[in-house]
Amino acid sequence: MALPYQEPADMTIFRADFPVLAHKMNDRPLAYLDSGASAQKPLIVINAIRDAYESHYANIHRGLYHFSQAMTYEFERARKKVADFLGVDDEREIVFTRNATEGINLVAQSWARTALKPGDEVILTGMEHHANIVPWQLLRDQIGIVLKMIPVREDGTLDLAVYKGLLSERTRLVAAVHVSNALGTVNDVAALAKTAKTFNPAIRILIDGSQAVVHRAVDIPAIGCDFYVMTGHKLYGPTGIGALWGRYDLLAAMPPYQGGGDMIERVTFEETTYKDPPARFEAGTPAIAEAIGLGAAIDYVRMVGIEVIAIHEKQIYDYTMAQLATVGGLRFYGTAPDKAGIISLTADWAHISDIGMILDQCGVAVRTGHHCCMPLMQRFEIDGTLRASLGLYTNKDDIDAFVGALKKAKEMLG
Ligand code: ALA
Repeated sequence: MALPYQEPADMTIFRADFPVLAHKMNDRPLAYLDSGASAQKPLIVINAIRDAYESHYANIHRGLYHFSQAMTYEFERARKKVADFLGVDDEREIVFTRNATEGINLVAQSWARTALKPGDEVILTGMEHHANIVPWQLLRDQIGIVLKMIPVREDGTLDLAVYKGLLSERTRLVAAVHVSNALGTVNDVAALAKTAKTFNPAIRILIDGSQAVVHRAVDIPAIGCDFYVMTGHKLYGPTGIGALWGRYDLLAAMPPYQGGGDMIERVTFEETTYKDPPARFEAGTPAIAEAIGLGAAIDYVRMVGIEVIAIHEKQIYDYTMAQLATVGGLRFYGTAPDKAGIISLTADWAHISDIGMILDQCGVAVRTGHHCCMPLMQRFEIDGTLRASLGLYTNKDDIDAFVGALKKAKEMLG
């Protein structure tokens, strides 16, 4: 079926929804190419948060009065929106967290800490964000699990032949990133899950979807995983809010991750009983307005159309790569056929930090450094890359400013 979409220019109508894009940076029009670090926010999100505080703010789950009930309704409606967005029928499987990092730590310290024994194995990939490495190292130091790693090939894809050889009778978990934040590689996580489950159906699969949900439609049941984490601020939503999806039977068998108010059924000084998921994992007053803001962000993304965003990003990505070919002396990391709108490069004529500073002076916002993926940088024997990451609002002017600034940097530094 033909999509109602032809040219990248069609997306310019949405730029006006993002007030920050009208601002200048260093007296130059802002070319915001750091959506992978955090996306800008549309007015619908800003207004949803403002409205929550301005018109009927109150704590949730605690008051019989109207405002508290209204906020509770909106908070729980946001949970339902997250579930729908991820293809999940049962919203009780959505646990609100601060971010994807907290979701992974929750799985490590609740499920894995109780289910895994010394010598049990967890398989990660060589392109994981620190958020999907360090929690497992903490657990390794606590209970003596063994960490294994699927290597990354030169083009930024996973070496799946090695992966098969890593699976063993001690494998308990495969924890992998869906879309690499540093390379843009889209991993076939359904195939990763199928390989593991074919080997042993009891192996659990955790997918870090922080970058994936932004760039393409995610259908969790089709992946065949057990846990999936995402964060709101990369999805045009607020900071401080993310979600963990977990299969209900797993969540129901897991102990609490943190203790506090709103997660208990009954407390005495002798013992405490806990609520069912998701409340069991949401101790204390949550990020109420932020959850409502995340719900608004999902409404926005669905209004634009996640498939339309994916096509737009692909077109802008192709345009960017064609323009970058005119700069010279660049090396690209992550050249897989299936990629999201993330471009990672180094230059043979200057260090990325010096280039990044000149880009800043030209109004171009990119991220330079290891992108919280130090082991991946070690794999490529570099200390970092300059990363341009695209969003639904990215247009040709942004790319022309980026490429023009790179050429200027080359003239000055090369
Ligand atoms: N994980 C974020 C990034 O990729 C912060 O930049």
